[in-house]
Amino acid sequence: MKENKIWLATGNSHKVKEAREVLAEYGIELGHIEVDRIEIQSDDPGEIAVYSLTQLPDDGRPVAIEDAGFFIDHYGGFPGPYSSYALDKLDNPGMLKLMEGVEERGAAYHSYVGFRFGEEVHVFQGTVRGEIADGMRGTNGFGYDPIFVPEEGDGRTFGEMTDDEKNAISHRARAFRALGEWLQAQK
Ligand code: IMP
Repeated sequence: MKENKIWLATGNSHKVKEAREVLAEYGIELGHIEVDRIEIQSDDPGEIAVYSLTQLPDDGRPVAIEDAGFFIDHYGGFPGPYSSYALDKLDNPGMLKLMEGVEERGAAYHSYVGFRFGEEVHVFQGTVRGEIADGMRGTNGFGYDPIFVPEEGDGRTFGEMTDDEKNAISHRARAFRALGEWLQAQK
């Protein structure tokens, strides 16, 4: 694949911003295809990413889709693939309530990037581990960012970090870096 531009199909502009900065490190430009959430329910986020790709019309452009989930150790990985549903229904205060009195506070984000170009489909993965904070902190980012403290950080939540700080270690940045490296190797 010789192109220097790919497209991300998503309804989430935060994802575009984060992925664009990462792919720029590899000299790849990122366009945005605005789509509503296309999602099947599955326990396997990689499967969701691949399925979502098959739902996009193929107009010849190299296109990526990203599916992420938030996995809480104490609850066996819940909400995982149901993360957006849990955020809709419980929001961060509700998630914090679920964690009241819970000592085991470990959690992880996993990101799966599905990439399609012609007949080829590839999936790239990224993970960041951390802990659930005691309260909501910070207004940057989106989703669960105000309640997640990455273990490679300095105790701040993703919501308290700049875009660059989050992008240095985030699940999404890692998955897009894997895609960027793969694209670079194809040139
Ligand atoms: P999605 O299905 O990839 O859009 O993500 C599932 C849920 O996890 C959504 O509610 C997102 O808001 C949340 N989520 C995904 N990535 C992040 C992130 O980087 N920070 C905070 N929340 C996230």
